[in-house]
Amino acid sequence: MISEKIQEALNEQVNKEFYSAYLYLAMSAYCDTIGLPGFSNWMRQQYEEESLHVTKLYDYILAQGGKIHLQQIDEPPKEYGTPVEIFEQTLAHEQFVTGCINELMGIAIEERDYATQTFLQWYVSEQVEEESNVNDILAPLRMVGKEGGGLMMIDQQLAKRLPPAPLAPAG
Ligand code: FEO
Repeated sequence: MISEKIQEALNEQVNKEFYSAYLYLAMSAYCDTIGLPGFSNWMRQQYEEESLHVTKLYDYILAQGGKIHLQQIDEPPKEYGTPVEIFEQTLAHEQFVTGCINELMGIAIEERDYATQTFLQWYVSEQVEEESNVNDILAPLRMVGKEGGGLMMIDQQLAKRLPPAPLAPAG
């Protein structure tokens, strides 16, 4: 069982994770159009990962007897600038999501909802990993800038990212 307040907050997070998926799909398309297939692949896998973040929340709400409220998803931008700017926007977005997860955890603590706190702990750890992954790409990217050879090497690395493993069902 979850309270109305938790149900609403979890549904809002479903919407934010949907937006994340949408954003990375748009970034994937953009990277493809500027001739960076490896970047495009990385963003495409990130889209897949965000889709899993959506369904994990969705499954949890239902497993707790809650109601799903799917809301309108905002339109992501069409242009993302240079390769460095693409990943700077990715980092900024992940930092925003980390803030949202922290807010959500704060509500679960206020509500004394221990099950939701345990559930959200997965997202807390996931955000540490997400930010770290992006920082690991941004650092060499900032070094090479727009330099062709270095950029191509990073693109080849990003082409190797595999689809995420399926997540265990909640509840
Ligand atoms: Fe679902 Fe990248 O946060």
